[in-house]
Amino acid sequence: MSDEVLSVTVTAPTNIAIVKYWGKRCTKFNLPINSSLSATLSQDQLKTTTRIETSPTFEEDEVWLHGKEQDIQKNQRLLNCFNNIRRLARKQAISGGEGSADQIKFYSQKVQVHTENNFPTAAGLASSASGYAALVFGLGTLFKVQGDLTSIARQGSGSACRSLHGGFVEWQMGEQSDGEDSIGVQIAPESHWPELRIIVLVVNDARKKVGSTEGMQSSVQTSTLLQYRSEKIVDERIKQAKRAIIDKDFSLLAEIIMKESNQLHAVCLDSFPPLHYLSNESHTIMDLVHAYNKATGCTRLAYTFDAGPNACLFTMSTFVNEVAWLIEHYFPVENGNKIFRGLEVDPVSPGDEVLNKLDMEINPNVIKYAIHTRLGHPPKIESAVNVS
Ligand code: DP6
Repeated sequence: MSDEVLSVTVTAPTNIAIVKYWGKRCTKFNLPINSSLSATLSQDQLKTTTRIETSPTFEEDEVWLHGKEQDIQKNQRLLNCFNNIRRLARKQAISGGEGSADQIKFYSQKVQVHTENNFPTAAGLASSASGYAALVFGLGTLFKVQGDLTSIARQGSGSACRSLHGGFVEWQMGEQSDGEDSIGVQIAPESHWPELRIIVLVVNDARKKVGSTEGMQSSVQTSTLLQYRSEKIVDERIKQAKRAIIDKDFSLLAEIIMKESNQLHAVCLDSFPPLHYLSNESHTIMDLVHAYNKATGCTRLAYTFDAGPNACLFTMSTFVNEVAWLIEHYFPVENGNKIFRGLEVDPVSPGDEVLNKLDMEINPNVIKYAIHTRLGHPPKIESAVNVS
């Protein structure tokens, strides 16, 4: 083989859970105690970009996140992703009859990985999901691995297995002890429901105190509510959510989204010591959503929160300008900066009748900014070049 450097650049989306993953039954293979379901967000607004290079001259695998080198020997999940992709590449080459010595040697070559998110890392916006999805998709592209990669991405970060598909995705918990059947499966593509809109409200982009991995371990050990939820509630919620998605029934989906978020944070409070991911700002946002739905007499808006205080709001394109107006009106930003980023909004008041019923106070500086986005597609290859 020559000393040429091969390089691929890929991007991967984040996802936001509609039915939440919280709790592992096996930490070795990162297997969940229940299935979960999510919406993949558009990469036009939120994405991880990862460039991976390989050369026979590289001596170690190296990873840089936002220009900062990571200590990968201390990160078993990263090592698992590298090892599993290389193992699969070798296996496929041998079984496909292309397993020449050079080819097999190529799969052992070391890589250099440079990765960047265009949104706040570790602020409850599933940066590990898009990060591991991009890594696994990029390595799979570089080493020409065929077939499902979600089981490998899952071992980087559970929610990452849902970021390898676009639209709506179910992570089926599976039954096998090796996790081979614990995979991400698409329920419906992004084109199924183009009117669905998502607004991310960034209230605080500081790093969270207890990471989700650690937090869910504590919940598994101490929360009886979590056990009840995984045994008695989640399966039915997934069935309902799938029905709501297939039928494009926004009010049913919205109710499930909010109840799931509330139950996740109830489990967090039921953990001992309790886990607090929501802030006062998060609660103020929840109040506005309920007040708006009540004032209009129908469910036009839903909120969900992961392991951080930032909100993801779900609405429909018909209501998005009204929702934007409410956000700008009730949560003004005192520094005068523009609140909305992403897809365009043209804020319109919902009218006096609704506003009179709303009974909300104006709360300056609840949010820093908002990102208006929609459902998005799976990871994609930006470029694949032989740069030598
Ligand atoms: C609250 O996927 O970050 O966002 O598997 O330990 O890496 P690990 O956890 P992670 O957990 C995500 C939890 C959640 C809910 C969800 O995305 O379903």
